[in-house]
Amino acid sequence: MRPSPDLPAPPASLDERWAESQAPLVERLRDLIVGGGPITFAQFMVLALYDREHGYYATRSDRPTRDGDFLTAPEMHPIFGAALATQVDEAWDRLGRPATFTLREEAAGSGALGLAIAEALSNEAAAALRYQPVEVSAGRESAVRARFAAAGHAAALAASSEAEASLTGVVIANEFLDALPVHRVTVDGGVLREIHVAWRDGWFVDEALPPSTSELDATLGLAGVRLVEGQVAEIGLAGHAWVRSLGRLVDRGLVIVIDYGHPATTLYDPERRRGGLLRTYHRHHVGDDPYRFVGEQDLTAHVDWTTLQRIAAEAGLTVLGRTTQAEFLAGLGLGDRLVEFGSRPGADRADYLAARSAVARLLDPGALGGFGVLLLGRGLDTAPPPRGLSFRLPGRES
Ligand SMILES: C[S@@+](CC[C@H](N)C(=O)[O-])C[C@H]1O[C@@H](n2cnc3c(N)ncnc32)[C@H](O)[C@@H]1O
Repeated sequence: MRPSPDLPAPPASLDERWAESQAPLVERLRDLIVGGGPITFAQFMVLALYDREHGYYATRSDRPTRDGDFLTAPEMHPIFGAALATQVDEAWDRLGRPATFTLREEAAGSGALGLAIAEALSNEAAAALRYQPVEVSAGRESAVRARFAAAGHAAALAASSEAEASLTGVVIANEFLDALPVHRVTVDGGVLREIHVAWRDGWFVDEALPPSTSELDATLGLAGVRLVEGQVAEIGLAGHAWVRSLGRLVDRGLVIVIDYGHPATTLYDPERRRGGLLRTYHRHHVGDDPYRFVGEQDLTAHVDWTTLQRIAAEAGLTVLGRTTQAEFLAGLGLGDRLVEFGSRPGADRADYLAARSAVARLLDPGALGGFGVLLLGRGLDTAPPPRGLSFRLPGRES
């Protein structure tokens, strides 16, 4: 669960900024910039989040959990994974019930989602399952594998991700795209500029320079977006590259992308989002200064659904549809899953109430229920539409 915006944080002194950040990481970034000139914001984000020693995701593995900085849907309660299992079951069925099928989870985090799905699948699909968690480092990936094996599912673990050349099965990415590095752009004097990170007066500052790649301008153009003078926007080229890679990877299967995002016209609306949607998360507080808590706060940006769908189609994947998480989970029978949780052998009233409270938050359109869900497919029956797309709240526009 991502908290709502806080009041703006008071300015911090240089001493405070050093003290609250991973100092060796700040030094490394400073040396890089002082030695070679300003770096793109995307480069800054890669190091701030994923530097092997001091990056945000390298130093602790509990980031998306109750003890960490924010709470994702799978970490909130296994009922989320149980609902998704219904969609995975259906995909396996529509693929013709293959003897083995892969469930590849991008950004598997703590492994909570894969485990919840495996435990809720039908017996037949569970027997065919090969779970393939993908994480940013080998260490995080093996921790997920160890958790899955310890829960009694060792036989359902797929070979490590590098081995995979083509995939038959399901790819799930929950809060993966928002964690990937973004480029930041602005318009200055009528010209598109890319925000780089410079080092001035002892700390990081934005500096608008010519774009590092023509892809930035091209992406906005293809989405029909014209930024206005002074507007700031994020462009997720790494996410786009990932969707292209799916086009090469998925032979037959279903792709489920869950994240917060908007169609391009809304995401880049100069009236409502003039300053962009880069957000920071630190101990369940949200902010917008990426140069605070360097290496100690999450940096995220919203997804541009319009561009992702265009790229998916260009990559040969069928865009099956996009919905909200609330509608997706309702279509998958989240209510039925709640009844099942309440009537499990050994379940008590506290278990039921915990599941019920998670359901309320998962469906809340102002919280996790407002996330978007994009379904892509290739080589599987698409009629009728997947069950997750079967429910639509009356009167909701896409
Ligand atoms: C917001 S967390 C979501 C984790 C999990 N999917 C969940 O819902 O709890 C983002 C995750 O993305 C992972 N990640 C970031 N970049 C990645 C990459 N290039 N490949 C695989 N995982 C990545 C991070 O390590 C982190 O676990």
